[in-house]
Amino acid sequence: MSVADRSSTVKRGVIVLAMLFGSALAWTAYRRASNPDVAPSATSTPDAPSTPDAPSTPAAQGAPDSTRELVTRSVWDGVYTEEQAKRGEAVYRAQCQLCHLKDLRGGGFASSLVDRAFTDRWNGQNLGDLYAIMRSTMPQGAPASLSRQEYVDVAAFLLKANGYPVGEEELIPDRPTLERVIIAERSS
Ligand code: HEC
Repeated sequence: MSVADRSSTVKRGVIVLAMLFGSALAWTAYRRASNPDVAPSATSTPDAPSTPDAPSTPAAQGAPDSTRELVTRSVWDGVYTEEQAKRGEAVYRAQCQLCHLKDLRGGGFASSLVDRAFTDRWNGQNLGDLYAIMRSTMPQGAPASLSRQEYVDVAAFLLKANGYPVGEEELIPDRPTLERVIIAERSS
């Protein structure tokens, strides 16, 4: 075996080792990413919570998304955007106006969706209730025929039509989240 041959054999060996090591690393990373529950015990992280059903950790409470959803707000806190109310208005004009009329005051038979009629009906309830009832009963004759996004956009339009302030974030079509927004007659 010449010196050149030997050095190329060594090189090949190094390359094979590097590849094996690399795939081992990749496999470990993959296992951790795809199965987060396995990672803490496998690496025996000392500060991992010992009981799985312990109350959510400070880290979890600090996550911006979960915090935002856990806070109870009211319709006075600016819970929808101008843009969303505009989309909701388009849905309303196409799907609801026929019965509830252009000014949302309803005809002889369809309820008014603004002012006293709105607050008398919804005061003290929450947007989750309004959303769910609209979805399950409206448009009359074709309930649940619109998308969730369209129903929540219409809810934003109803808030706008009732004089509640716009904000920076859209309402999302998720009932538990909507249930944390109280419909209050007055700002408190
Ligand atoms: C075919 C006519 C018709 C259409 C279209 C229609 N509604 Fe209604 N809506 C009614 C009638 C009638 C009532 C009152 C009786 C009832 O509550 O079922 C009503 C009641 C409501 C109420 C009050 C429900 C309650 O429990 O107090 C809401 C909110 C409402 N409609 C929203 C909508 C929205 C949003 C749309 C469009 C997506 C829509 N409606 C389309 C006829 C209609």
